[in-house]
Amino acid sequence: MTIRMILAGTALALAASLAQAQDAPPPPSLDDAASLRSHAMKNAGLAAGLGGKMLKGEAPFDARVAQAALAAINSTALGIGLMVPEGSGGEKTQASDKIWSDKAGFEAAVAKFIADSSAAVAAKVSDMDSFKAQFVAVTSNCKACHEKYRVKRN
Ligand code: HEC
Repeated sequence: MTIRMILAGTALALAASLAQAQDAPPPPSLDDAASLRSHAMKNAGLAAGLGGKMLKGEAPFDARVAQAALAAINSTALGIGLMVPEGSGGEKTQASDKIWSDKAGFEAAVAKFIADSSAAVAAKVSDMDSFKAQFVAVTSNCKACHEKYRVKRN
């Protein structure tokens, strides 16, 4: 085998593994605030979905998983205010223009999201009751902010 054939084979194997990887969602672009925002929110969505399943008894309650879900949501809360630079909205995103026209209102919503989710992490939930109380308080932020500052464009 020539080196050229070996390289060609390697390239084919790489192409095949890339094709498989396409089933997974694309990774966030670190230089694109809208992409980061979307991934951070999707992560919060996955954590909230898992928490909801535990509350409904569709998944067994596990204190470690409950704490991890609240921590994941907290990380989105801590980051979101840094992912909304001017000019990062627009048609390709679900970010409402109100984020920038009503900056004080958005910042207040972010501050409450941070406060509630940080308190939830600090509470170190250990059973269903303590988790439920924290989870309900934290997830009330989702709808409240989305109603004002998110638009579904499709
Ligand atoms: C302070 C405001 C705010 C809070 C609180 C908030 N979100 Fe969001 N969320 C947004 C904005 C703005 C968008 C649209 C982002 C974009 O497309 O640029 C969004 C989008 C989303 C999306 C769609 C992501 C996508 O691209 O498909 C999900 C899922 C989501 N949020 C889940 C949650 C969950 C779950 C919570 C609560 C635990 C939450 N969000 C709390 C502002 C918020």
